[in-house]
Amino acid sequence: MADKWQYLDEAMTASAKKTIRELFDEDPGRAGRFSLEAAGWFLDYSKNRVDAATMKSLVKLAEASGLREEIERMFTGEKINRTEQRAVLHTALRNCDPGAKVFVDGKDVMPDVRATLAKMGDFADLVRKGTWRGCTGKRIKYVVNIGIGGSDLGPVMANIALTPYAKRSLKFFFVSNVDSTHLAETLRQVKAAETLFIVASKTFTTQETMSNAEAAKAWLLEKIGSAANPGEAVAKHFVALSTAAKEVAEFGIDTANMFPFWDWVGGRYSLPSAIGLSLMIAIGRSNYSKFLKGYWKMDRHFRTAKFDRNMPVVMALLGILYSNGYGAETYCCLPYDQYLSRFPAYLQQMDMESNGKSTDRDGKPVDRETGPIEWGEPGTNGQHSFYQLIHQGTHLIPCDFIGCCRTHNPIGDLHDKLMANLFAQTEALAFGKSAEECRAEGVPKDLVPFKTFEGNKPTNTLLCDELTPATLGALIALYEHKVFVQGVILNIYSFDQWGVQLGKVLAKGVLADLTAEKPSGKHDASTTQLIARYRAAVGR
Ligand code: F6P
Repeated sequence: MADKWQYLDEAMTASAKKTIRELFDEDPGRAGRFSLEAAGWFLDYSKNRVDAATMKSLVKLAEASGLREEIERMFTGEKINRTEQRAVLHTALRNCDPGAKVFVDGKDVMPDVRATLAKMGDFADLVRKGTWRGCTGKRIKYVVNIGIGGSDLGPVMANIALTPYAKRSLKFFFVSNVDSTHLAETLRQVKAAETLFIVASKTFTTQETMSNAEAAKAWLLEKIGSAANPGEAVAKHFVALSTAAKEVAEFGIDTANMFPFWDWVGGRYSLPSAIGLSLMIAIGRSNYSKFLKGYWKMDRHFRTAKFDRNMPVVMALLGILYSNGYGAETYCCLPYDQYLSRFPAYLQQMDMESNGKSTDRDGKPVDRETGPIEWGEPGTNGQHSFYQLIHQGTHLIPCDFIGCCRTHNPIGDLHDKLMANLFAQTEALAFGKSAEECRAEGVPKDLVPFKTFEGNKPTNTLLCDELTPATLGALIALYEHKVFVQGVILNIYSFDQWGVQLGKVLAKGVLADLTAEKPSGKHDASTTQLIARYRAAVGR
């Protein structure tokens, strides 16, 4: 079989022939032709360095990578996370077909998925209605999710994104960092008798989460004092979201108050599992079910649409063109919606923990660039910070602009201004400003080089009518599948994360040396010096 990367070479040859400006000049119908709709989202990818020939070659790259088969293998529960011998079934969590069956090791997982959702819904109702009371009989007013990584970033991002749908009398907090400041500042804002702690951890062994959970438990028990016995206090104020029933019980949480998920749900893909409990409490079960339906719509589109009309596939292919064809090292996500302010951070884990790999599926070093460095900020803030580099710097930085046509908070013409900025930025990046245009505007000759914009900077624009539970779900699924497609094309495993282990293990040894009577001295000279300096500063 011919090397599949020949199709990327073909795509590059076609792509490099013309600038984006030239492509628009020669094809006025281009905007419509290079646009797609799926699950409430409109994607305009016409401001990319692609023509029909480029896209055709890129689609061939996807086909030659066996993408169609890989998609089916994921959706049908094959153990495609081979290094951990696990299925990858976040799509089952939001499969809203009441008759759906999805098998792992011969067992249909859907009854457990539905049972957990029902349990979450019942619990969310109790908290929202004030029926679930703290151990002294008070209503719950504060919900504190303790988790990190996938057990934090998704809940935080979605709770902010869906604020307009949230019950505002409940206040939500998210504690992730093992820096005690995070917990301390949160506890200053809540009252023990009115607080529900949600301990979110797939493994229930993560150092940061378990340390914060233990500290929160001690704080609660101290504050409650003799008003209730400790068992009762923990039972009313702590619930767990986890795959690890034994560890949950050992922590002291009754497994009746545990909302389970399963090893076939990756941490960074776990938001639509029990990990979404804080979101469900915030927005209610009916909105939560719309959220899942949004995911499901995008899942079905991804599974069935032809590759050249498939939104996640098209976005993945464009990403591969820039990273492996043009050598772009980073990739920028720019949501023009304050409610999506944490979306770039959420994407960082999704993309970089999934595709930040240097070993291919055969255990050999990769010979391509893998996942890009992902970053971003909400617009328009970024415009007054780092856009200078995107417009006139030397790095090529493909950008996704995300906008919502209607705002939840109309105030004067602010939303028109926001969207005008979004559209204008994509125009400026694509078309730039030539030296002739500068001169025609009367720019002094010596300033022309500085005021010239090269243009030809690629962008995608994603638009929805409104940010709703459904459109948010679909947006997350879009990026999840984009990352999956890139992993398939790059021939890497996207669902393990061995790269996070070494630091975790070393931290245990370092911690022992920070606190021991006499440090082991087993570290390198630099680390030994840092440990010594720390010990001196804290008087050890
Ligand atoms: O350290 C990385 C990681 O394993 C992530 O993949 C995961 O989302 C996070 O830690 C938290 O893990 P857990 O949910 O098991 O506490």
